[in-house]
Amino acid sequence: MAQHLLAIDDVEEDFEKILKWAIEFKRLWKRSDEVAQNFLPLDTLAIGSIYEKPSTRTRVSFEVGINRLGGYPLTLLKNDIQLGKSETVGDTSQVLSRFLGGMTYRCFSHADVEELAKHADVPVLNALSDKHHPCQAAADLMTIMEHFDDREHLKVAWVGDGNNVLHDLMLGCAMLGIDIYYAIPKGYEPDEEVVERTQKIAEKNGSKVVETNDPVEAVTDANVVYTDVFISMGEEHLTDKVESFAGFQVNEELVSNMDDDWKFMHCLPAHRGDEVTNWVMDHKNSIAFDQAENRMWAQMSLLAYFINEGAWDAMGEFMTLD
Ligand code: CP
Ligand code: NVA
Repeated sequence: MAQHLLAIDDVEEDFEKILKWAIEFKRLWKRSDEVAQNFLPLDTLAIGSIYEKPSTRTRVSFEVGINRLGGYPLTLLKNDIQLGKSETVGDTSQVLSRFLGGMTYRCFSHADVEELAKHADVPVLNALSDKHHPCQAAADLMTIMEHFDDREHLKVAWVGDGNNVLHDLMLGCAMLGIDIYYAIPKGYEPDEEVVERTQKIAEKNGSKVVETNDPVEAVTDANVVYTDVFISMGEEHLTDKVESFAGFQVNEELVSNMDDDWKFMHCLPAHRGDEVTNWVMDHKNSIAFDQAENRMWAQMSLLAYFINEGAWDAMGEFMTLD
């Protein structure tokens, strides 16, 4: 088992089980099942979450989820701690390891979350870096599993930037044998190293990884279309970038090429009117808010898995995961 979650393929072996666990735990918890509600694998542990960038979903879902697992969430905003001022990432990591049962980190450079993990004695979960957003992908694939019974014939299409969210989405799709097609404007393609990792996993699982510059090609007969902002956090100065994304909006015309039972996904926050129209965002086929809720359930599974694997296993035995 991996000690840290820096990218979603760190849990390649157990990914499907982690997601099934989350789906079943959510179902039990929502019907007030006593065993699920008294499942407290983080009892007495403090979990620290460092944020260099703003967050709504990640922060709230971690705080509430950690509480529900019996832990104590500590949110550490960068301006309030010594990290990045007078203290290195490595020293911060060693100090926090003396107090905490686990850490989450939202940072600019992926090298920083690698550095935090390198010096940590407790599990580190990447809560978004410029390269990866594994907690998002866990929630996304959990949501896809909830909405589609037959994964074998699924086609997921990404339309937009070749960014951190796409990286873990494509890895996650490949890990579950789901075809991923992505349409990206020239010059904004995903990281080659991540694409290679994805292709290797997809080959093992018999699924496709297809790159195109044509949004219509990507979405034709697709079951799911996914998009994200054109300008990610940390790229606010790249104002010219938006021009390259003309024709990459997910709108009524684009989704008319999809399967009749199409679904729309977005990690949120959305820039309505840019990458997606109100018509699509507010459509009954939009599952963007299910994804947002599932951040918490997927992360609860990941937290228990990484921080108290024995309790996670024991809870899994109580549930029907097949
Ligand atoms: N999707 C996501 O990570 O949202 P936040 O930036 O609000 O955490
Ligand atoms: N790609 C976006 C995702 C936000 C959740 C960003 O990194 O800003």
